[in-house]
Amino acid sequence: MSSLRRRIRILATSAAAVLCTSVFSVSAQGTDVDHGKLVYNTWCAGCHGADPRQSQPHLAANKPEVLQNAMDLVAQMNFLKTVLTGTDIGDVAAYIGSVATIGVPVLNPTPGSVDFSYQTVGVPSTAQTLLLTNLGSVALNITAITATPADFTVSGNCVGHRNPSSTCALSIVLNPSAAGSLAGQVAVTFSESPTPVTVPLLGAGVLSESTPLPIVVEYYNPDLDNYFITADAGEQAFVDSGAVGRWLRTGNAFRSGGTTKVCRFYGNGATNPATGRIYGPNSHFYTAGQSECDGLKSAYIVSAPSWKFESLDFSTAQLTGAACAPGTVPVYRAYNNGATRGIDSNHRITTNRTSIEQVVARGWIDEGIAMCAPQ
Ligand code: HEC
Repeated sequence: MSSLRRRIRILATSAAAVLCTSVFSVSAQGTDVDHGKLVYNTWCAGCHGADPRQSQPHLAANKPEVLQNAMDLVAQMNFLKTVLTGTDIGDVAAYIGSVATIGVPVLNPTPGSVDFSYQTVGVPSTAQTLLLTNLGSVALNITAITATPADFTVSGNCVGHRNPSSTCALSIVLNPSAAGSLAGQVAVTFSESPTPVTVPLLGAGVLSESTPLPIVVEYYNPDLDNYFITADAGEQAFVDSGAVGRWLRTGNAFRSGGTTKVCRFYGNGATNPATGRIYGPNSHFYTAGQSECDGLKSAYIVSAPSWKFESLDFSTAQLTGAACAPGTVPVYRAYNNGATRGIDSNHRITTNRTSIEQVVARGWIDEGIAMCAPQ
């Protein structure tokens, strides 16, 4: 009891401060919903919650008489009779009435995200279903449903009024326009909420076996003593232009092809506030190992040196035992031992055995066959 009385006194004091310093515009004819909201937040929210809808049905106080009654009958509310004016009571009733008719809007999507995994470029995936359920107490008015980026399309008949407890189904298709990973979203806009409900969409475009196999080109940067490979013809042209530094073609290249997608990572490109430089490493890393790829993806830390997934750069074949199957050639990997030497880690990846031996002769570690390229 004493704690309740103390609580009431605190409410009364803070409210008095608010009420004394504020100027309200109350129309002579009608009620002032904005003022009613302020009265609610000042005098009622402490006991009944920030949103009057949270304590339905007690907040049937959308009529002044109901609130008058409650102030008489409920001991904890008696004190309000000495602080609320007739205008306050009329306005707070109007405010509660204005929100009570809105009800609580809850639009629940299932599943919480949609993953398409790998999908051939230019070929639509099978459709995946996203259910939208109105878990709220009132009807919702869905006004727009969009999917981004344009590689994803969404269809279905969910726009319009959705009754409480009703579910409608959306159908989502991925048709990748290019190779590489995709992260998009479906956004559902409805009148009762200022922000749309969004559902993440994930997937990756991969090149079909019938598209001409890209060539993986090797580059060397003498300033960094780093190697880099890319199968992306557009990126090759960009690198050749000199736009990203002194990257020179080494003359080594091999073909992309096979059922394994090679994960490509780059060091964390976010700036470390302590040094003003990127966390790094300022280098790329490639792996044909699914578990290594997954492990690096999950080890990425936004505020520390780590590897950030960039794309599925090219495809390759796995070893058969310790060697490459007929029709394929070994792709070797050498490591600059950057961790021990205190420099950014870098790998050389090439089918040219002599090139591997050259870097091994100056301290790089021979990691043997990493993958198998089409002959
Ligand atoms: C000190 C806490 C406290 C404050 C402040 C308070 N209430 Fe209450 N209210 C209660 C309690 C306790 C009850 C009775 C138990 C219940 O119904 O939950 C109640 C009940 C009610 C009821 C239902 C009465 C009935 O007949 O069932 C209404 C309506 C109500 N409050 C409205 C308000 C409004 C509007 C305000 C602000 C102007 C307010 N209350 C401020 C504690 C409070």
